[in-house]
Amino acid sequence: MAINAWAVVRFFHVLAAVFWVGGQLMLSVVVVPLLRRHGGPVLTREMAAAAGRRFGTVTSFGLFPVLVVTGVLLAWHEGVRWANLGTTTYGQVLRTKVIVVGVTFALATAHGVVARRLPRSAGRILAIITLALSIWIVLLATTLASLPPPR
Ligand code: HEM
Repeated sequence: MAINAWAVVRFFHVLAAVFWVGGQLMLSVVVVPLLRRHGGPVLTREMAAAAGRRFGTVTSFGLFPVLVVTGVLLAWHEGVRWANLGTTTYGQVLRTKVIVVGVTFALATAHGVVARRLPRSAGRILAIITLALSIWIVLLATTLASLPPPR
């Protein structure tokens, strides 16, 4: 079975997306609640901060670049150009997705940069908003895959 180069590009796009969204879910639904229940407040704060920092590094230097580069390549392959970005449903959904991606990346970066200086509740709210937006991006991506591309 010959594997098409575009299947490889899509594979890395989806793998990075799974890692990013799954990693956020793992941290906020499993790791942090377990630390809160079984660790003291100091251990919880330090471990949550260390896990957040490590995930932030993996995201900034690995997942974000892979998502943006493979996403732009996929869009090009599907026939998206500036001219049809606003005139086809596929282009409009993609444009919305790219805007939500930009806002989410900015919030995730802001969370990483200012987390230590924010009250805990503000950090948690930022993390929840980032997670909700990431899930919205997945919904936009699956909508995109069900639409006829402009090519
Ligand atoms: C600049 C950033 C991005 C661009 C330009 C982009 C673009 C695209 C394109 C063109 C597709 C192909 C859709 C099709 O098959 O017709 C796609 C699929 C997908 N994208 Fe992105 N994407 C970006 C970022 C992201 C991010 C941050 C996530 C993570 C939440 C994500 C998750 C996905 C998923 C899961 C699919 C597969 C959908 C499916 O085949 O059902 N993308 N993306």
